[in-house]
Amino acid sequence: MTDMTPQRWQFTNNYSRDVFGRQDPHLANLMNDGVAKGLPDIAVSADVGRLLYILTSTTRAKLAIEVGTLGGYSGIWIARALSPQGKLITIEPEKLHADFALIQFQKAGVADRVDLRRAPGLQVLPQLARELPPKSVDVIFLDAIKTEYPAYWKIVRPLIAVGGLIIADNVYGSGDWWIDDLDNPSRQAADQFNRLVANDADFEAVAVPLREGVLIGRRMR
Ligand SMILES: C[S@@+](CC[C@H](N)C(=O)[O-])C[C@H]1O[C@@H](n2cnc3c(N)ncnc32)[C@H](O)[C@@H]1O
Repeated sequence: MTDMTPQRWQFTNNYSRDVFGRQDPHLANLMNDGVAKGLPDIAVSADVGRLLYILTSTTRAKLAIEVGTLGGYSGIWIARALSPQGKLITIEPEKLHADFALIQFQKAGVADRVDLRRAPGLQVLPQLARELPPKSVDVIFLDAIKTEYPAYWKIVRPLIAVGGLIIADNVYGSGDWWIDDLDNPSRQAADQFNRLVANDADFEAVAVPLREGVLIGRRMR
């Protein structure tokens, strides 16, 4: 009776978005507008957006970093949850995506708290690691190249504040792989990343099976 089937999984996802996916008209239309301008339809869902909002506000975040801006959808959820004077640094190398996202940040009224860096994550993150003091970042959200997650982790780990969070999307799967596809390189990288965070003595972590899996790790010391 309680066995998971593809139909039940799909129903559960749709149910979650229906019940927990309330959003304003701008956010509801953002990715439709983005797709019309040529962006891929790969933003987080509204229930994952709400999870980002809750987690960011729970840490009373003053500084957040996002790797993978796309059209600004998840960034707006994060930016709205920052403390007063808080800042989101979001990283996006694709001009089409970054240009579109900047317009969306303006429309959402959060542009003054968003710093968009137009370069690949593995270029920007080492710069940030030099610019920012250790343990000074409250929230880091990874949502870019899945095979690079272990490398992102190595760079951002020292930046995460005590009580701060590492959050990562797609830790159970993505469009073309799932966590039971043992030979898939993205799956292998996600597995490596999950285990790095899960086995880190300074962090407590779990992944919630919302949409394609969201890892949440908190630095305890
Ligand atoms: C899954 S989308 C991000 C979705 C976004 N976080 C949201 O939910 O609204 C991944 C984004 O990462 C960007 N990207 C691609 N290569 C990247 C890299 N090397 N570093 C950072 N971002 C990259 C892509 O252009 C794309 O916009």
